[in-house]
Formats: sequence, structure tokens, C-alpha cells
Amino acid sequence: MKKILAFAGSNSKNSINQKLVEYVASKMDSHQVRVINLINYPMVLYSEDEEKDNGFPGMALGLKQEISEVDALLISVNEHNGSWSAFFKNIIDWLSRLDRNFLEGKKILLMSTSPGKRGGVSSLEFAKNVLPRFGAEIVDSFSFPSFHDNFSVTSNTVTDETLLLGLNEVLSTFAHQI
Ligand SMILES: Cc1cc2nc3c(=O)[nH]c(=O)nc-3n(C[C@H](O)[C@H](O)[C@H](O)COP(=O)(O)O)c2cc1C
Repeated sequence: MKKILAFAGSNSKNSINQKLVEYVASKMDSHQVRVINLINYPMVLYSEDEEKDNGFPGMALGLKQEISEVDALLISVNEHNGSWSAFFKNIIDWLSRLDRNFLEGKKILLMSTSPGKRGGVSSLEFAKNVLPRFGAEIVDSFSFPSFHDNFSVTSNTVTDETLLLGLNEVLSTFAHQI
């Protein structure tokens, strides 16, 4: 049984990516998954002056430590104007300053969702290109389109059968590969 840390790249209280992460985490019963909410990891906006004058935010040190303790990560990125959110970029910038290889040896299942048909795929592709710079191995990825049409928050279920089959296949592959 491997250890997995799961989170969404969003600071929205009603984040649909966080809902997707929580759903997927609940299905990964062959591993030990811990879901965190990055809202609880506030970090001042990165600047070189901030780093020089005040050092690293405690939450960046804490998150880096939590990442170092697991085998794999389950991440769902939101999409703001074709990329991941400024909130998530800020976290990645701080972590990269702490350790350029902060994702070394980490296997990642990368996801994205949005209310639109593209399901945040631009942000997903961006994350697929950028995260390996820090040592990550992206094992698989999944973009979940039109979240509100295909997911029931009340019953915590995927309502579209084809999407459910695709997602199950990705989860099963990831569970075997980590
Ligand atoms: C500033 C801003 C930009 C956005 N840009 C996009 C976009 O480029 N593509 C997209 O699919 N959705 C876009 N959206 C809609 C988000 O996908 C939607 O707000 C979604 O709920 C964000 O995910 P989250 O709830 O996990 O934070 C944007 C929303 C905001 C506030």
C-alpha cells in the first residue's frame, strides 16, 4: 500500500477540482490517500525581495515536507485563462525555490475539470509540461469536461457512463503503476 497526497490547485471554497479530487480519492481504496485543501496553506505572493527579506512561508515548508513523505500525488488543476490559477502558480513558485527537485521520484495522476466542454485541458497540458521540471513523473492524466453536467455533488457520483468508464480505467492504471 502506497501513500498518496491529493489536492486541487484552487483556492475556491466551492472548488469543483477539489470535489473531483475528493471523489477520486474515495475510489482509491488499495492505497492510503490523504486529501488536503490548499486553502489551508496560505502563502504570501512570491517575490525575490519577499524571499530575501522574510524567508520562506511556514506553509511552504510544511507542504514540501508533506510531499516528501508520500510516494505519489493526485492533483487536479483548475483553469484560469488557459493556465493554472495564480494561486497554484504561487505555491509552485515557493516550492521550487525551496527545492528545484521537490517532486523528484513522485508519481502523479494529473486531472483537471471546468464547467466547460474542454474540462480545463489547457491547464492540464500546461501542468503536464511544467511539473516534470521539478522531477515529477506524470503517470497518467484525465480531463473531466462539463463538471456540472457530468457529476452529481449531492450523490457524489459521475453521472455520465462513458466518462465513468474512462476515469475508472485511469484510476486502475495509476493504482497499479505506483
Ligand atoms: C479568472 C477566471 C478565468 C477563467 N478561465 C477559464 C478558462 O480559461 N477555461 C475554463 O475552462 N474555465 C475558466 N474559468 C472558469 C473556471 O473553470 C471555473 O471557475 C472553475 O470552477 C474553476 O475551478 P475551481 O472551482 O476548482 O476553482 C475561469 C474562471 C475565472 C474566475
